[in-house]
Amino acid sequence: MDLTTEYMGLALKNPLIVGSSPLTASRESIIKLEDAGAAAVVMHSIFEEQINHEHHEIDHFLFKGSESYAEAVGYFPDMDLGNLESEHYLEEIATLKNSIDIPLIASLNGVSEGGWINYAKQLQEAGADGLELNITYIPTDPELDGQAVEQLYLDALNAVLSSVNIPVSVKMNAYFSAPANMAKRFSEAGAQGLVLFDRPVQVDIDIEELISSPRIHASQSQELSESLRWCAILYKKLESSLAASSGVHTHEDILKAMMSGADAVQMVSALMTHGEGYVKEVLDNLVLWMEEKEYDSIAQMKGSISLQHTSNPAAYQRANYMRILSEYRF
Ligand SMILES: Cc1cc2nc3c(=O)[nH]c(=O)nc-3n(C[C@H](O)[C@H](O)[C@H](O)COP(=O)(O)O)c2cc1C
Repeated sequence: MDLTTEYMGLALKNPLIVGSSPLTASRESIIKLEDAGAAAVVMHSIFEEQINHEHHEIDHFLFKGSESYAEAVGYFPDMDLGNLESEHYLEEIATLKNSIDIPLIASLNGVSEGGWINYAKQLQEAGADGLELNITYIPTDPELDGQAVEQLYLDALNAVLSSVNIPVSVKMNAYFSAPANMAKRFSEAGAQGLVLFDRPVQVDIDIEELISSPRIHASQSQELSESLRWCAILYKKLESSLAASSGVHTHEDILKAMMSGADAVQMVSALMTHGEGYVKEVLDNLVLWMEEKEYDSIAQMKGSISLQHTSNPAAYQRANYMRILSEYRF
């Protein structure tokens, strides 16, 4: 069975990429994922705040706290300049590149202009095969309009693109007022891949402690719906390749994603629930299903139920309840 596909210019042996998560923060786990058949991994993110904070700390120690490096270190003995997270991340890439054969995609998480952008170049130099840019920005300022927010995203992407020549993808959120237009602009700027979609950390309120707190819970297959819709709509409309993400749990979910028009999928929650070996189970089931239905390759089914090929385009285009309301029974 030919499961090969191409995503952000990288040749993949199958469509299953492990998404950025704690699973991809450990070398041991990444090796297990490769052994189980994963086609590529996206490393856990390094965050703008981590990189910028470290830069500020170093500036502070080197230039404000003392006039010389040695004095500065002596001045602040708790500051371990040899083990900064951003440096450790680069070392991890270099080590992983010697341990695995599948593509390794670094994940950079940030939005503002600043020193963290230069870090993209270091990720490339460390050996990353690609770079996934996760621009998570919650526009809390009511004065900030949609256009300004969109520009912020494009500026961050352009800055990263101008400092590297490895393929860059954008992990998009689903909350733009015109996702197709935003995807087009990312693509035209030079993003070679688009991840549809990120699943932001949820927020909750603890009514006993009276505080708001972030919360992460595992996704479910039903959450794949928006990825299917937008992969189907964007299929063959952009230069960028598409990865469906958020709610990919089973081989059926991979099949749906491919049929909608995705080139690859990213999986996290299912693997965190069932363990790294689950990759093999999903891929085995994928092959079994394809054999039963007499498919020869993933390429054969790509986009077969996309907006341009489906017999029911209204399912993708209309979001109202009109028909469903008259038919639906609990
Ligand atoms: C515990 C946890 C940590 C995550 N950390 C990151 C991260 O560092 N960077 C990132 O871009 N996405 C991160 N994600 C989001 C996942 O990459 C993925 O987009 C999301 O979980 C949806 O995929 P899923 O439905 O397969 O879980 C994290 C998700 C989980 C559950």
